[in-house]
Amino acid sequence: MNLRAGRLGKKMTEKAADFTSSLEFDKYIFEADVDLNIAHTTMLKQEKIIDSSIADNIITVLKKLKIEGIESLNLDPSVEDIHMAVENYVTDQIGEEAGFMHTAKSRNDQVATDLRIVLKVKIREIQRDILDFIQGIIEMAQEHTKTVIIGYTHLQHAQPTTFAHHLMAYAQSLKRDYERLDDTYNRVNLNPLGSAAMTTTSFPINREITTEILGFDSYMENSMDAVCSRDFIAETVFDLSLMVTSLGKICEEMVLWSTHEFNLIEISDEFSSTSSIMPQKKNPDVAEISRGKTGVLYGELMTILTILKAIPYTYNRDLQEITPHLWNSVETAHAMLDIVKDMLLTIKINSDRGLELARANFATATDLADVIVREKNMPFRIAHKIVGRMVTDAIDLNLKAEDIDSKFLDNICMDLTGKKLDIDEDLIKKSLNPLENVKMRKVPGGPSPEMVNMAIENLNEYLKTEINKFNL
Ligand code: ARG
Repeated sequence: MNLRAGRLGKKMTEKAADFTSSLEFDKYIFEADVDLNIAHTTMLKQEKIIDSSIADNIITVLKKLKIEGIESLNLDPSVEDIHMAVENYVTDQIGEEAGFMHTAKSRNDQVATDLRIVLKVKIREIQRDILDFIQGIIEMAQEHTKTVIIGYTHLQHAQPTTFAHHLMAYAQSLKRDYERLDDTYNRVNLNPLGSAAMTTTSFPINREITTEILGFDSYMENSMDAVCSRDFIAETVFDLSLMVTSLGKICEEMVLWSTHEFNLIEISDEFSSTSSIMPQKKNPDVAEISRGKTGVLYGELMTILTILKAIPYTYNRDLQEITPHLWNSVETAHAMLDIVKDMLLTIKINSDRGLELARANFATATDLADVIVREKNMPFRIAHKIVGRMVTDAIDLNLKAEDIDSKFLDNICMDLTGKKLDIDEDLIKKSLNPLENVKMRKVPGGPSPEMVNMAIENLNEYLKTEINKFNL
């Protein structure tokens, strides 16, 4: 069928056809488009809008096409898009009767529907893999509830924590990424079909039937909105951008922690490269490429938003330009999720080094201040000042946290307040010990092994419920 035969005298130039065709990335929606045509034709038949035997012929051919696959289609750019290619195929098989399948339908509502059908599947696949990743992180965390490491603020030593506590922070961030996709899914799960070009149709179509057959929650309530809204794409790509942000932060830490200076982890060989000239090198290329791909996602999001900006209602061909950026975002984010998962779950942690770093640099000072507050009923600000001075003096004198005793503190306190502090030696030692420090943080959300175990249990419960939803 030549779509142009009615209105247009001339063919597009080859360049113009190439320039405007969406066929290259329509491969993603091929199956969805065939399914859509089957659903639509079934509805037309049921509502007696088209002849029942013609509908059956059309459906038989469409089912055959689904089995044969996209290779059976003529995908010359002059065909414009997958919707025409599918219709042409049916026409080739049964002749002009095929034209009935396009009754009460437009490529405008078709493409909007196809994109949603495919995106629903892709979102669920990514969500499933996020859950797997979280599961892996939990298992790793269980092994490390007493592996002390140093925590950072401003990338300066801050307070001791455990590797498990840190891992569970990753897990929580990924959980939110999962939830965001879940929420977006509800808005993707709406059926534009039946909107036709923009104002529906005068044929008595039944939108509930196609909504049901295609597995959507409900149909979209306004046909103008339905054919031209792509915010479902923008929000999916935003969700994915945040997900790769979570992943990129993990990558950044893998890069940093595997340096000689940090020496906290070793990335497994399978996720490392070497240098063509420096034989000693072990480079964290997977983490770096992943970190870089975060930028690809942000770029795609910006591209999509910029194309969407100020498009007047309703369908405009600009919208087609968004599609390849959606699929690139989905594929890039998904690949990154997979690889970062495999990389993180196979790192080796150097727990001696973790403890060494946690001991260094007076990272336990907050606790010493807390002890002073508790024991001496002193306002935290004064305790903060005493301990701050203690650290400065200790650094001047080349002393470490374990060298600090009650007398040392008394002298400083005398100087600052005119009184001795007189704190029990044991309390000082305990507060300056990183593992004790961590154990004392028994507040929900904190790093004590009990609290991390509780967090693990809670997240495990959540995972169970969510994984079950996938098995329904
Ligand atoms: N390839 C088009 C797209 O992706 C399909 C819709 C075309 N509609 C039209 N009126 N030319 O948006």
